[in-house]
Amino acid sequence: MDRIRITGGVPLAGSITISGAKNAALPLMTCGLLTDDRLVLSNVAKLADLQTMAELLAQHGIAVEPEGRSLSLGGRITNTEAPYEIVCKMRASFLVLGSLLARCREARVSLPGGCDIGTRPVDLHLKGLEAMGAVIKLDAGYIDATAPTGLRGANIVFPFVSVGATENLLMAASLAEGTTVLKNAAREPEIADLAKCLIAMGAEITGIGTDTLTIEGKKTLHGADHAILPDRIETGTYACAAAITGGKIFLENARTDDLGAVISALTEAGIIITPARNGFWIERTGKLRGTDVKTEPYPGFPTDMQAQFMALMAVAEGASMITETIFENRFMHVPELNRMGARINAHASSAIIRGVHHLSGAQVMATDLRASVSLVLAGLAAKGQTTISRVYHLDRGYEAVEEKLAACGAKIERLS
Ligand code: EPZ
Repeated sequence: MDRIRITGGVPLAGSITISGAKNAALPLMTCGLLTDDRLVLSNVAKLADLQTMAELLAQHGIAVEPEGRSLSLGGRITNTEAPYEIVCKMRASFLVLGSLLARCREARVSLPGGCDIGTRPVDLHLKGLEAMGAVIKLDAGYIDATAPTGLRGANIVFPFVSVGATENLLMAASLAEGTTVLKNAAREPEIADLAKCLIAMGAEITGIGTDTLTIEGKKTLHGADHAILPDRIETGTYACAAAITGGKIFLENARTDDLGAVISALTEAGIIITPARNGFWIERTGKLRGTDVKTEPYPGFPTDMQAQFMALMAVAEGASMITETIFENRFMHVPELNRMGARINAHASSAIIRGVHHLSGAQVMATDLRASVSLVLAGLAAKGQTTISRVYHLDRGYEAVEEKLAACGAKIERLS
């Protein structure tokens, strides 16, 4: 298994180009199931998770052909089963359920297991589809779903915000008969990007960017060309890399408008952010100040930035409190950061971080995608050498992470 070795202490300087968003690309690729026409997605990052989604779609009959930094999807659905072997590798595979049901009136999709950060049930996805007329059974770890007379529009109120359930039902509703209203829907920018692509395919959706989405179902959708929005989590991650090393970098293609809560927290911590054409500068000149954050659904502070911000706060002046409200077990980076000399105490959903003057390099282990990258950030700032094992977690969500950082002066290399 690959490892990454970092020799810390170099303030980053240079520019990093932000890739297309992983968490938009995954549902957008699923849209390939919604039409027999060609769907072309551009600004696609080269990520392991997107390769897994391509494998899944291929076994459904949808070919996914790379064309430079675009993907061209086409074909007809020949198989409505999503096998355990793929779904257990990547839970976003579960997003095919709504589309398969809407088009084929049947689907057999493996239940995704839990994962490192939580049990991650899919009850909201299933309840919403049942409200649309699906009959759902659990059989040998698979969801057996049928909609003999097709899906029909429904009024659905989510008891709490779920990105995946909003996406699954948004795609299903696009081909259901009649009107669907999704209340308390997730408002993440990736949802707006998905809705924009669906509209380009002929769907009729209003309320984009709000917590109420109204969808007028169509009989068919046609092909489209769609450019994927920049990855706001990758953007926030590299902003933290500049901050933790006391450097100054330009983030190309980065948008500030979908990172408001992160930018507020970074500014409070003493970071200077200067918007420019097609991106923004991020710089830290003085001390880092301890800053409290609580993760919340968009537009709140994103849970996917929690581990990265914690690494930053580990070397801030003073104490910080970080509260994780979305997932029940998303502090696996804490013991690893503490091995590097951080002083973090986690209790239930909160962690208190007492800033230290510096971290020290160590051998550490990646556990989940965002925990992995928080260890990279810590390694960039630590005195001495850090070696991170199990970096396959990192490759799921970050394209060419060591190249992008090395181009800004980081002493980072991959050891196969
Ligand atoms: C998406 O996961 C993202 N993944 C996650 O990013 C992100 O952390 C999460 O949204 C929250 O923003 C993708 O987009 C591929 P949820 P998702 O449904 O859709 C509970 C990363 O690092 N829940 O919004 O699975 C759930 O357990 C990944 O890029 C139910 O109880 O998240 C969680 O506690 C990690 N029942 C909370 O809701 C359901 O039916 C939010 O989950 C659905 C969710």
